[in-house]
Amino acid sequence: MTLTTSFHIPVQRAYPSRLHEVDWENLEFGKYFTDHMLICDFTDGQWQDPQIIPFGDFRLSPVSLALHYGQTIFEGMKAFRMDDGAINIFRPERHYDRMVLSSERMCMPVPPREVFIEGLHQLVDLDRNWVPGEEGSTLYLRPFMIATEARLRVKVSDSYRFAIVATPTGKYFEKPVSVKVERDFVRAARGGTGYAKCGGNYGASMYPTQKAREEGYDQVLWTDGSTHRYIEESGAMNVFFVLDGTLVTPPLSDSILDGVTRDSLLKLARRQGVPVAERPVDVEELKEAFKKGAITEAFGAGTAAVISPIGVIGIDGKDYTLPQSGTKGIGAQLKDALDNIRYGREADTEEWNFIVK
Ligand SMILES: Cc1ncc(COP(=O)(O)O)c(C=O)c1O
Repeated sequence: MTLTTSFHIPVQRAYPSRLHEVDWENLEFGKYFTDHMLICDFTDGQWQDPQIIPFGDFRLSPVSLALHYGQTIFEGMKAFRMDDGAINIFRPERHYDRMVLSSERMCMPVPPREVFIEGLHQLVDLDRNWVPGEEGSTLYLRPFMIATEARLRVKVSDSYRFAIVATPTGKYFEKPVSVKVERDFVRAARGGTGYAKCGGNYGASMYPTQKAREEGYDQVLWTDGSTHRYIEESGAMNVFFVLDGTLVTPPLSDSILDGVTRDSLLKLARRQGVPVAERPVDVEELKEAFKKGAITEAFGAGTAAVISPIGVIGIDGKDYTLPQSGTKGIGAQLKDALDNIRYGREADTEEWNFIVK
């Protein structure tokens, strides 16, 4: 799909560009931001006109509601430089739909679709020189919204700022990660905000993740908040297992984020004829599968790494090691299939690519 500019957003240009300040050999995630950002305010009960302005600080009251009571949501997606040099934003409409769900859960106004989609398009077009050329390096796009009303009372804010910023990111090295099955702490409970991409979910994850790191793990593998029996997701990733040759992932619920990568991988796996199951995964089943050698792969899936192979799963104080399937596993195969679409090597039959003209 090619985006056409039907809705023009006024631009205040940044001068001079900061592009030369970037150390392209060492692109640390979230360190450099492109020359411009989009802002669009919600005041007096309606969305005001969006603008693209030089990247810079916001002026905020110290009693802005977002700073105290957590009305903040965000999205994360990537723009790629394709093999033919065109720039591709991957599945922005799916990310928009998820931002709508997050807005509704957090009692925030829904940002207009055209501001989100055209805003991404025009910002990436303007800052196109910031999209890295090397395969695997991308421009990460962060749309977000915060409550801006200056009031100290716990209430739904009357005013908001929606914004989009962009940061070039380097190639992700696929070192297998170790995860700890979390049986005590909870990231998200039934009826809570787990399916929304709101700041509070990440704040709540920090302490248990810190504890897991002190024990030598990279990440927490969350279990359900009521029985701690069923696997949910890990860090900023959904999780997949290959059990007896079937690609298995926990079903979506209100305590799991509906990952765009998860959805893409499931579609590609089904298309390739890989047996797929979206069903609950009991921690006891995983232990049994390790005993019988029935588990051959485990990986996380998310925008940042696409696929992050899991090398070790810690369950109740015991570490279980996974065989490493390298480039031959189902995970690696699906990553290649996804990259082939994103870089324009295979037909984009699902219309996932939004080409910036
Ligand atoms: C909690 C959580 N789960 C899963 C994901 C994966 O989602 P996506 O594939 O859309 O990046 C993310 C990242 O956005 C996340 O933060």
